[in-house]
Amino acid sequence: MPKNLLVTGGAGFIGSNFVRLVLATDPQVRIINLDKLTYAGSMANLQNLPDESRHNFVHGDICDRELVRSLFQQHLIDSVAHFAAESHVDRSIADPESFIRTNVMGTFTLLEAAREAWLKNKSVSLEQARFHHVSTDEVFGSLSPTDPAFSETTPYSPRSPYSASKASSDHLVRAYHHTYGLPVTLSNCSNNYGPYQFPEKLIPLIILNALNGKPLPVYGDGQQIRDWLYVEDHCSAIWQVLTRGANGETYNIGGGNQPPNLEIVHTLCDILDELHPASPYRPHRSLITFVADRPGHDRRYDMDIRKIDHDLGWRPQENLASGLLKTVRWYLDNAAWIESIRQGSDLTGWMEKNYANREKKA
Ligand code: NAD
Ligand code: DAU
Repeated sequence: MPKNLLVTGGAGFIGSNFVRLVLATDPQVRIINLDKLTYAGSMANLQNLPDESRHNFVHGDICDRELVRSLFQQHLIDSVAHFAAESHVDRSIADPESFIRTNVMGTFTLLEAAREAWLKNKSVSLEQARFHHVSTDEVFGSLSPTDPAFSETTPYSPRSPYSASKASSDHLVRAYHHTYGLPVTLSNCSNNYGPYQFPEKLIPLIILNALNGKPLPVYGDGQQIRDWLYVEDHCSAIWQVLTRGANGETYNIGGGNQPPNLEIVHTLCDILDELHPASPYRPHRSLITFVADRPGHDRRYDMDIRKIDHDLGWRPQENLASGLLKTVRWYLDNAAWIESIRQGSDLTGWMEKNYANREKKA
């Protein structure tokens, strides 16, 4: 079991949920949380942790070689859960450079630090060491309606600067395992949703726009398909892989929920109609606006999760209906969090940049 766990990107959406889960699950582990606090990271995501005394936050960049090396040394890091990334596909289309820097060079910097600490300086025993890399289903490309789900052996075919940068980082992690013997695991996961998600992503964006009577932008025909997974299920899967997964192995993670985007938006509108009867914007479906499609938009993702189920006994606990209801409730109950995110990030500017010039489709 990890003793000194370096979590990168632990102030972001999934990372902060993971920090919460690990502190609550394992009373021994100490977390060193390295996060640059980009627009997507916030200390508001780390309020009221289960045990603050075992959480050590470090404000810094995974590309900062000296800082990363010193953290391995100073804290005798034996395990890494690497979440830090630029994560939004639309931003990667508008401005790809930071994706290459953080997702590729940042991962390389972490791998080099782990190699130096564990293989050269032998700071911890190799049996105890593990570098877990958190990745995405988008590295596999896009499925047609009749294609089988992505498995761990599906060839890579990334199609956006985001997915290409993640594919590149996955290759680097595997190369460090095969070439140097670095102990690693990888996981490729589908679309997450739930508490603390930055409201540039579909589900929180729809909830917040609907609450404010703003248009609900649906790209293209809204028939694109994602494999939605509640974030706590993703975090429990990562914990299983990090602590019990086989060295050098990759595990696919997904939710088995594949409704088209438009159906997700309809469901969110209906939940809001019910939970917020005083809203002047009911029925919220009337706010739906079809807008120009995302360039190169992947049509369908679907994850085959038989390996993680068979090898580690993991499968999702939350179904889509209950997960979406919990998520809408969370955003309704956390107005202060929404306000701090709005004020502490570039959300307003990004909304202007991404949506102002997307012509409305008939
Ligand atoms: P996010 O954008 O919400 O959070 C990313 C975090 O990384 C932020 O806290 C940010 O401040 C930090 N960060 C960014 N650049 C950094 C740098 N150079 N140094 C240190 N910290 C930095 O992302 P997320 O949705 O929580 O995704 C986390 C990971 O999971 C990513 O690697 C992403 O590719 C992967 N993933 C996400 C999903 C999803 O649906 N969101 C699904 C599968 C995989
Ligand atoms: O599949 C895993 C990936 O899921 C992760 O690797 C990424 O980090 C994460 O951002 C997510 O990528 P998507 O591009 O699928 O997520 P997003 O929430 O941006 O979009 C979900 C779908 O909704 C997608 O088909 C595009 C569509 N969409 C999105 C936005 C923001 C809209 O129709 N309108 C919108 O305004």
